[in-house]
Amino acid sequence: MLLLGKNALITGAARGIGAAMVEVFAREGANVWAFARKPDEAFEARCAETAQKYGVWIKPVYCELADTAAIKEAFRQVMADKQPLHVLVNNAGIMGEDRMFQMTSEQEMHRIFDVNFFAMIEVSRLATRLMARNRQGAVVNIASIAGIDGDSRLDYSASKAAVIAATKKMARELISVGIRVNALAPGFTDTDLVSGLSEKVVQEQTEKILMKRKARPEEIANVAAFMASDMASYVTGQVWRADGGILS
Ligand code: NAI
Repeated sequence: MLLLGKNALITGAARGIGAAMVEVFAREGANVWAFARKPDEAFEARCAETAQKYGVWIKPVYCELADTAAIKEAFRQVMADKQPLHVLVNNAGIMGEDRMFQMTSEQEMHRIFDVNFFAMIEVSRLATRLMARNRQGAVVNIASIAGIDGDSRLDYSASKAAVIAATKKMARELISVGIRVNALAPGFTDTDLVSGLSEKVVQEQTEKILMKRKARPEEIANVAAFMASDMASYVTGQVWRADGGILS
């Protein structure tokens, strides 16, 4: 069990990669604060079932990440549990429309950056303050290969490049209080985020991948679990691709 006895906070936990992370982290022995946007009975039932299956606790915490006051309130709930925080996974993210550079509005860029970047910074600020009390912790920021290679979405790819830059800045500073910070850059992963892409785009994307298929969410979650665990104790400030093999 990679994460036995660790307490982890995962954002965007209600579906996609985040939901797979809740399952994988619990399987590996972690207790989880599962951040989700809106109250959701099916999500709560899944959390309770997974917690029972693996003998851990999983607490749903509802928080609109585009709202800084809501993030602060969510952390008050986490702190009220009086449990140490060992792991943060900044997973929640949104993707905008595929638009020409000239057609990408400032307003749309703000919308994407509010969730993908500014919320990630605020959550990290509050979480690492808690971790620093025990002088240990691990942060995994979910970036994207779009943040490394660029892609057709200016707002999305730039926000993920910013996540990578923040990861390196945080890693430099926070190692002094025993906190490792890394970014995981998934490739094309089978979730709702990409379900609206046209067949043509899906085919083009898949063609570039050595494995010729999308990732399953749990394949990304498994890498995050390893990065969060003490098995990666000598790894910080890194960006790891999990993309099925995309070679330039
Ligand atoms: P998804 O759309 O299935 O899940 C995203 C989660 O983030 C949802 O649970 C959603 O409620 C939450 N979220 C979004 N906006 C929020 C807000 N304002 N407040 C609170 N929660 C909010 O997407 P997926 O694919 O699971 O994405 C997870 C992460 O992985 C994202 O950061 C995404 O950018 C990244 N990623 C995904 C890839 C893919 O191909 N699916 C590829 C590379 C990176």
